[in-house]
Amino acid sequence: MSKIHKERRIPFVVANWKINKLQSDVMDFLEKVNEKVPGEKVVETGIAAQDLFLADMVRATADSPIHIVAENVHWEDNGAYTGETSPKALKDVGAKYVLIGHFERRKFFNETDSTVNLKVTAALRNGLRPIIDVDEDMSTYAQFMDAQPSVAQVSAALAGVSVDQIRKVTIAYEPTWAIGSGEAASADQAQKAAYLIRQTLAKLYSPVIAEQVRILYGGSVTPNNAREIMSQEDIDGVLVGTAALDPDKFLQLVEIAKDPSVPNFDIDHV
Ligand code: PGA
Repeated sequence: MSKIHKERRIPFVVANWKINKLQSDVMDFLEKVNEKVPGEKVVETGIAAQDLFLADMVRATADSPIHIVAENVHWEDNGAYTGETSPKALKDVGAKYVLIGHFERRKFFNETDSTVNLKVTAALRNGLRPIIDVDEDMSTYAQFMDAQPSVAQVSAALAGVSVDQIRKVTIAYEPTWAIGSGEAASADQAQKAAYLIRQTLAKLYSPVIAEQVRILYGGSVTPNNAREIMSQEDIDGVLVGTAALDPDKFLQLVEIAKDPSVPNFDIDHV
């Protein structure tokens, strides 16, 4: 939509480690990046990790602007739900954000639009900020070879989310075919999708509110393609799996997010 609005949204770089790190790796990574990330008014940073590391990560980042992100959450605050994690407990250990509806959860763990919505409202009720993942319909992609985010997923995820609450929500557009494949969407495809998502938010809330919500792109982001993707008008940051397992690449991505318009000659060695 507009450049002026983009400048008012603080860029957001989120690492999604999935189940790829052990405790010792986690602490090594944090030691390397803790003091190097800028303040959250410049670029906000988050790291999503397995629940069992979150409390230690919160302690290890106490003096750093990095926010700790859970990768999933249950929709009930407590009760007989063996193996799940309560949103109340996540808040209690100091997690600030939670990923909800990641493609891998939809694909391997039967996450549906309605469970995503239950989790989004549970997170907000407990003071956690949801990062809602939406992907896209492969048949639409095959047909049009173009980014078509599931607008239906956005609307379903936000049912019952108030105007006040939507400001605490981040949406991440992650085309299914780009996740972990090494083949990111083009900057243009990603922008088109983010624009459609913002238009959906404008219809659900208002154009003014839609301009306040951050929209991320995820799927094979690296320091080499991030600059162009993050320069797009409706893209406010990135959700990064593979590349963000490496502390140097994570720091490079944060550096790019500070000002994606500044060219960089030799990004791999920054
Ligand atoms: P990727 O993962 O960067 O390895 O594609 C992104 C994600 O799953 O969020």
